[in-house]
Amino acid sequence: MLKQEAEDGQTSLADPHFRADVLNGLARRPRAIPARWFYDRRGSELFEQITELPEYYPTRTEMAILEQACPEVAEIAGTGRAVVEFGSGSSTKTPILLRAASPSAYVPIDISGDFLRASSKQLSHAFPDLLVLPFEADFMRPLTLPRTIVDTPKLGFFPGSTIGNMIPLMAVDLLRTMRASLGVGAMLLIGMDRIKDPGVLVPAYDDAAGVTAAFNMNLLDRINRELDGTIPLEAFRHRAIWNDDRARIEMHLEATEKADFTVDGRAFSIAEGETIHTENSHKYGPRDARILLRSGGWTPIAEWTDAKDRFALYLAEAQEERPAP
Ligand code: AVI
Repeated sequence: MLKQEAEDGQTSLADPHFRADVLNGLARRPRAIPARWFYDRRGSELFEQITELPEYYPTRTEMAILEQACPEVAEIAGTGRAVVEFGSGSSTKTPILLRAASPSAYVPIDISGDFLRASSKQLSHAFPDLLVLPFEADFMRPLTLPRTIVDTPKLGFFPGSTIGNMIPLMAVDLLRTMRASLGVGAMLLIGMDRIKDPGVLVPAYDDAAGVTAAFNMNLLDRINRELDGTIPLEAFRHRAIWNDDRARIEMHLEATEKADFTVDGRAFSIAEGETIHTENSHKYGPRDARILLRSGGWTPIAEWTDAKDRFALYLAEAQEERPAP
């Protein structure tokens, strides 16, 4: 976070990108703030709690699939690759892959340096012979990977259905960027959440204990704390909606009454029933997922799912481009 001199001469602790995203997002119609700003310390803690909720099936389902699939991944991809994890976070799923794939190096990439160093240290303890090369970067941008692994075949790892938090245009851009960063011949192991009954999807994003509601509402609290906001939290409620046309769960903060407030000195007025759109979580059917991968330059090689077909794991390869047909 950057220290900034505020207009009144006081020093405020606010990330200028956060300020710009919030002020622009509240001014536009429909109002929307990027989901990346959920993850301050409190938001990250709440997300960890979400992953353990009975209604939130993706994390435990993907873990079970990984346990079953990783030995097969190692057979197909071969051992000794450099595993490059995009947005490694707390790296909780990584040990399952590392145990099976016996990589020559592990490169966790994360924008949060503190988080990255802490989780890398833990992994080095668990895998003392593994070369761990933490890389602090925004994986949405093209990367120049550490020189040590330039000539090593790569295996990208992007679990958690994080790709689902991007609109398809951005998801394809990211897949292409990953292809450019990892190079032809690389493989990618990626998790995607399946389209399913909204009766299962909606509770996963609107749980009975209210943890996801607290996660969503924490964004308003963060705005008040970091951007000198006066948003009346009691005038908003959490909404999770299945948008069938776009095959995604949308999270919104809905005003339950007219709300007037300021953020960083700027005045806003939100009418009763109006929402601030805070997150998209796209879901992909089997064909959708394969088309998405191909659009991003990755050829699907193998896929695994759970018995209820709730979540899927794909192994794809960055093959040499062949002109059509
Ligand atoms: C991080 N991401 C894949 C989660 C998801 O399911 O879209 C974020 C989340 N939002 C509410 N619950 C979980």
